[in-house]
Amino acid sequence: MASTANALSPSLSAANSSISKPKTLHDFYLRFKNPNAISLRSKRVGLPVLRLSGITSPRVSASSAQLMHQSVGEASSRAPTIVEVDLGNRSYPIYIGSGLLDQPELLQRHVHGKRVLVVTNNTVGPLYLDKVVDALTRGNPNVSVESVILPDGEKYKNMETLMKVFDKAIELRLDRRCTFVALGGGVIGDMCGFAAAAFLRGVNFIQIPTTVMAQVDSSVGGKTGINHTLGKNLIGAFYQPQCVLIDTDTLNTLPDRELASGLAEVIKYGLIRDAKFFEWQEKNMPKLMARDPSAMAYAIKRSCENKAEVVSLDEKEGGLRATLNLGHTFGHAIETGFGYGQWLHGEAVAAGTVMAVDMSYRLGWIDDSIVKRIHNILQQAKLPTTPPETMTVEMFKSVMAVDKKVADGLLRLILLKGPLGNCVFSGDYDGKALDDTLHAFCKS
Ligand SMILES: NC(=O)c1ccc[n+]([C@@H]2O[C@H](COP(=O)([O-])OP(=O)(O)OC[C@H]3O[C@@H](n4cnc5c(N)ncnc54)[C@H](O)[C@@H]3O)[C@@H](O)[C@H]2O)c1
Ligand SMILES: [Zn+2]
Repeated sequence: MASTANALSPSLSAANSSISKPKTLHDFYLRFKNPNAISLRSKRVGLPVLRLSGITSPRVSASSAQLMHQSVGEASSRAPTIVEVDLGNRSYPIYIGSGLLDQPELLQRHVHGKRVLVVTNNTVGPLYLDKVVDALTRGNPNVSVESVILPDGEKYKNMETLMKVFDKAIELRLDRRCTFVALGGGVIGDMCGFAAAAFLRGVNFIQIPTTVMAQVDSSVGGKTGINHTLGKNLIGAFYQPQCVLIDTDTLNTLPDRELASGLAEVIKYGLIRDAKFFEWQEKNMPKLMARDPSAMAYAIKRSCENKAEVVSLDEKEGGLRATLNLGHTFGHAIETGFGYGQWLHGEAVAAGTVMAVDMSYRLGWIDDSIVKRIHNILQQAKLPTTPPETMTVEMFKSVMAVDKKVADGLLRLILLKGPLGNCVFSGDYDGKALDDTLHAFCKS
């Protein structure tokens, strides 16, 4: 079994060891422009490899020792694909598959202590809470499960709502040996994770993401937090879960608009680091929009692999991890300026991606065929390609000024540069290009 550390190509070993101190931004770009050279640590526990859409990855195997008693046919249809997030003693598995909430052993092996607090909301709770409680307790009478149901929506991703989790945990007199379980989309995952990081200075935590957005992005990598009225996700912590359990069946109840929103992040991985995946998406977008199970499972798996690789190399966002924010600086300005919850996160990211791509083109860093392909794929995914009409240049500028990627007063952006699949995280650009982009997309 290869570990990420010893499987790195020489160039990436160098990049990894000096992530926090690139000599110049150009140097930084050169070192990170081919991150696909790395090999992800994989787990192979001995059962049949799951093949998805005819595409196999030698690095990911579908297996679970506890499933050995099942027949091969049953096991291969139910065994999870496992993507490992390699973070030394904080490494954890991402289980991906259909019907995983019916496999209690997957969750139970990651529960610490005897008391569990499930954090969910008033939309997801009625759909999946009973199933999750059953998965946590079946054959395991010593464990008691309580829940806290939060109001649904990005506008509740704030300190007041977070307090409800602490209130419940304290009322229940939970101690350090408890486990918090996030059941829901990215809002619940981010809030529950932050609550787990802060409660008693840190308790065990499990992610059960139920949106495409959460399954391909937010549940992986340990970024947790809440919004402030002046900016998104400004208060939070890096805090890794014990495992991420992705039961793809939960997507059956997800509204179409939410599905499309999550695809914005899938497209992002292709653009910043995985041209082959982008090409696959160009061919398979109709299948993803139609929720074809094997296409969706492949998109989730490949997205998680990309995210896991980036997070393994740069957990605390010294540099490389920031590239996952393509389109997000513009997108966060839309979410904040337009009001949380008006546009979905992925919708704002889609429009923001078009703006970042426009700026990259103005700088002469990419050719126009890339611009066209990005427009096409976003349109196929029914995602917006322009910001809301009410957004002004001033609104963009004032929100972007408090972005987390501002360093020493300089706004650093993720921009595409070179062939498809390459990007830079840089403050070293001609400010006129940014101004021109903002004026091109805003009426005033
Ligand atoms: N931590 C990270 O690294 C990271 C990465 C990306 C996004 N995020 C955050 O994630 C949030 C967006 O996440 P999201 O798009 O999942 O939004 P969300 O959590 O608001 O979920 C979207 C909607 O779908 C509902 N829902 C969830 N699962 C469902 C299901 N299976 N069936 C029916 N309805 C369901 C929710 O109740 C909600 O109404 C943002 O706050 C964003 O900042 C965080
Ligand atoms: Zn995002």
